[in-house]
Amino acid sequence: MPVVYKGALCLAPMVRAGNLPTRILALQNKVDLVWSPEIIDKKIITCDRVINKESNTIDYLAPYPENRSKKDGVKRECVFRTHFGGEEKGKLIFQIGTSDPDLAVQAALKVIEDVDGIDVNSGCPKPFSVHSGCGAALLRTPDRLESILRNLVEKVGKPYSKPISVKVRILESEESTLSLLSQILKTGISNLTVHCRTPDMRNRQSPIREYIPKIYNLCKENNVSLIMNGGLLNKKDFIKIRKEMGLDVDVGGMFADKAEENPTLFLDDPLPWYQVLINYIDIAKKLNNPIHNTKYMLTRILRTDKIDKAFVSVKSYEEIDYLINTFLNKETGHFEIKQAMKYMQDLRSKDKEQRRLEQQRIQLEKNKIEKKEKTAQKLLDNNLKDDEHIEKKQKV
Ligand SMILES: Cc1cc2nc3c(=O)[nH]c(=O)nc-3n(C[C@H](O)[C@H](O)[C@H](O)COP(=O)(O)O)c2cc1C
Repeated sequence: MPVVYKGALCLAPMVRAGNLPTRILALQNKVDLVWSPEIIDKKIITCDRVINKESNTIDYLAPYPENRSKKDGVKRECVFRTHFGGEEKGKLIFQIGTSDPDLAVQAALKVIEDVDGIDVNSGCPKPFSVHSGCGAALLRTPDRLESILRNLVEKVGKPYSKPISVKVRILESEESTLSLLSQILKTGISNLTVHCRTPDMRNRQSPIREYIPKIYNLCKENNVSLIMNGGLLNKKDFIKIRKEMGLDVDVGGMFADKAEENPTLFLDDPLPWYQVLINYIDIAKKLNNPIHNTKYMLTRILRTDKIDKAFVSVKSYEEIDYLINTFLNKETGHFEIKQAMKYMQDLRSKDKEQRRLEQQRIQLEKNKIEKKEKTAQKLLDNNLKDDEHIEKKQKV
């Protein structure tokens, strides 16, 4: 199934938030395309591809840490995971963090059979990305970005008939942005995503969409589709903005921050938070999603309604289920936050008390052993003394 970028509603690449359960929830709620979180080229290259029958997923596992092995009971880090049953088929774009044309190709080749397209992150302004020449640093090294994209198109895109794309931020002026883009749009890529903020801008700042009409014309000249990103609230908001800007319906929209909070915003009427919560947990449990990642998503889904406080100390899916089944009215969405928090506080206090009793038990055990050892030593010393005494007596 070829990837259709034109007019697509997209789930943005999001480290942590864009893991498999979020993508599946979005796919069940009318998203057209989903991006994986950015994964660094060198990291994915070292991974092993493993079919995980328990969660019905394809897992890319990092090597065991140095000097550790399976025998030590060490769990390998799952760097990337997709659904084995095909829930993402035809819709999954894998995003690479890279600054090197050859490593980019090696990384793409590693996953290409399991994904539908490859995207290059050329917008991340975080120091860890920029310092190694990745992300937004590529906007300042257009020749390098161009050779990464050309290499990917020639060595991965064409042989596997899969599209290559890039996600950029705008530069400080329209002129410099258009000049950069006219260079990279000629590389044979299929899609350009523009995050309408400069690398220095924070996500809370309003996006600058003024350059989009000219960028769109440039894209059309080069037969590349365009996806607009930055500050979009939901499907209706995006369609309204696209219309107001006089853009064609083949311009797509990508959502990050708001989709993190509600991955069903691709519907005309997104689901309410409590339905999102129930559906997300259901998917996360089936996939054995690591609890720390699920907890992170709960803080995002529940933050507006300030219900996340009740979930901050949960340690298992059983505890999450208990909170939902006991304190949430699934018809009205009323959540008994105070009672839920009290329950969790009591539970953690009990844990603490149990840990204290366990430590006390261990200490008592230790004391007993020490006492036994001391008594044995004393006996031994006395026996030795007796022996010496007898020896002396015999000599006399
Ligand atoms: C939690 C989070 C993680 C992100 N991770 C990535 C990433 O891995 N790759 C990337 O290109 N952008 C990443 N971004 C940026 C988004 O994809 C998007 O460009 C940006 O948030 C603007 O969209 P928004 O205004 O809808 O949030 C991330 C954003 C958020 C909120």
